[in-house]
Amino acid sequence: MDKILTAVDYLRSATSDFQPEVAVILGTGLGDFADNITPYKVIEYSDIPNMPVSTVEGHKGRLIFGTIEGRRVVAMQGRFHYYEGYTMQQVTFPVRVLSLLGIKYLFVSNAAGGVNTSFCVGDLMVITDHINLLPNPLIGKNLDKFGPRFPDMHDCYSSAVRAKATAIAERENIKLQYGVYVGTTGPTFETQAEYRYFKAIGGDAVGMSTVPEVIVARHMGIPVFGMSVITNCGLSDVKGDHEDVQAQGRKAGLRMGRLFVELIKTL
Ligand code: HPA
Repeated sequence: MDKILTAVDYLRSATSDFQPEVAVILGTGLGDFADNITPYKVIEYSDIPNMPVSTVEGHKGRLIFGTIEGRRVVAMQGRFHYYEGYTMQQVTFPVRVLSLLGIKYLFVSNAAGGVNTSFCVGDLMVITDHINLLPNPLIGKNLDKFGPRFPDMHDCYSSAVRAKATAIAERENIKLQYGVYVGTTGPTFETQAEYRYFKAIGGDAVGMSTVPEVIVARHMGIPVFGMSVITNCGLSDVKGDHEDVQAQGRKAGLRMGRLFVELIKTL
């Protein structure tokens, strides 16, 4: 808790009390979304007390405070993954910090493998729910200030925000898929048998992030909107490849960015 408060104090003074309404976590290859933001202040993770530092290629490590169409936002360019060796407390640290800065919504994005065989590479999937196969970030003493010991996970991905996204996508001619995101530890991509397993248990996409941050946000009652960019299809014969994931992500990321911008305008 003290570590979180120290980081919050630092950011409050470094941004002259800029209070973001929406936080956007940018996934692998999706960092370009930041171009939509009129920047107010950019802060490197390495300057924030107690903040872990991102190690994955394609992930910058900085917070971009600014506005989109007049709405105050903060984007996380670079997130922390469990497979990098961080603890779950470290992985979710920025979400705790941003919540104390007063965010009203959390948007999460990621690159994910398609499990649903009707998905194509480059599709955008609105996350309707998740299956958590990572350690739960709330294990340990509950921080009652943040939320209850046994948080409810109904409507984990806000149906109200999803409905707005659907309306915008229709208007803007952006094709959307909908589905359940399976969160795994990685760092291995899945075996064919694992992809079949994820399909059997009700998954539509699989990835190595997002779920911890979402659980922590929901613990604090923050509404979440999540989107996966489908960068590969696991049940096809093509192998997983980090560079390919980044390239596919970048293209589809432009459409995702348009949707996020329009959505943020309506909140
Ligand atoms: N599996 C897990 N994570 C991923 C994948 C995948 O197929 N594609 C992009 N991130």
